Amino acid sequence: MTELITPTASETVLEVRGLTKRFGMLRAVDDVSFAVPRGSITGFIGPNGAGKTTTMRICATLELPDGGDAFVDGRSVLEDPRRVRDRVGFMPDRFEPYANLDVMQFLDFFARANGLRGRERLRTVCAVADFCGLDHFKDRPATGLSKGMGQRLHLAKTLLHQPSLLILDEPAAGLDPRARIEFRALIRELAAEGAAILISSHILAELSETCTGVVVIEQGRIVLGGTLKDIAAGVRERQDILLRVLGDLDAAHRYLLTQPLVHEPQIVENRLEFTFSGDDEAAADLLARLVGGGHRVVEFVARGVNLEEIFMHATRGRLQ
Ligand SMILES: Nc1ncnc2c1ncn2[C@@H]1O[C@H](COP(=O)(O)OP(=O)(O)O)[C@@H](O)[C@H]1O
Ligand SMILES: [Mg+2]
Repeated sequence: MTELITPTASETVLEVRGLTKRFGMLRAVDDVSFAVPRGSITGFIGPNGAGKTTTMRICATLELPDGGDAFVDGRSVLEDPRRVRDRVGFMPDRFEPYANLDVMQFLDFFARANGLRGRERLRTVCAVADFCGLDHFKDRPATGLSKGMGQRLHLAKTLLHQPSLLILDEPAAGLDPRARIEFRALIRELAAEGAAILISSHILAELSETCTGVVVIEQGRIVLGGTLKDIAAGVRERQDILLRVLGDLDAAHRYLLTQPLVHEPQIVENRLEFTFSGDDEAAADLLARLVGGGHRVVEFVARGVNLEEIFMHATRGRLQ
């Protein structure tokens, strides 16, 4: 099978260091630094005009910074833009129409532009078309596709040269729920293959289920960044736990009332809910004690990291 991406050997694939870009008096990007590791999906979140597209275009060598630098697989966008371009797949937020090309011709055109020849070109075009679910659309005009299929065609195009970094500028904007879910599955698969993925959105909820990390930008400046896990640990020392037991719910409730680190256990319908101020180790110990004490636990669920909460904390509600 043709590989879709070329994982980078080192942990960090994209490193942005002190990037600054001015348009006249406006500092569109102001001393921005962050990193995107291999195999991760990093959400680049901020309101319209925050500087996301400008940052991404610089990383894709389409624009020059006024200060700072960005490195892809250790290559500088300033010193070595050609090598960077070989490693980056960039999907812009809007597409140019290419008249009179069907899906396969469209991909073949860009495969040629990427220097692919002969059987290798055919093999690569077929592999990316199959991966992106375009196999039944091969003869369709490239401009006549639905928004979702058009998005997949352009994702396929960014994969033709087996990049290690994907930069996707607001790919979910305007997609219907099904197309969004399907697109998300493709992105996850690519990350699982080792791609580093930077994906922007001005709508938080769009990314909350996709990302392993976030970088939040406002007026050209980074206000928050890191893995969801680390950020959540910093924001919240407590986690909400949901517990379901078979049999005597009241007995389990009474037991929880005796436990340190357990706060305000409540019976909600057929379950117990409480706030827990211990770490994962302590949670595992509590679960073991419950089971050891004869409570028949069928569910013990820590409410996942809530991106909205993190976001509100970081931006104090200035963003949507
Ligand atoms: N080519 C340009 N010329 C002048 N101003 C620009 C240009 N590109 C972007 N800007 C401005 O820079 C700021 C950041 O824009 P952009 O990077 O597109 O933000 P985002 O993608 O987060 O919406 C905005 O205020 C925008 O108007
Ligand atoms: Mg933009």
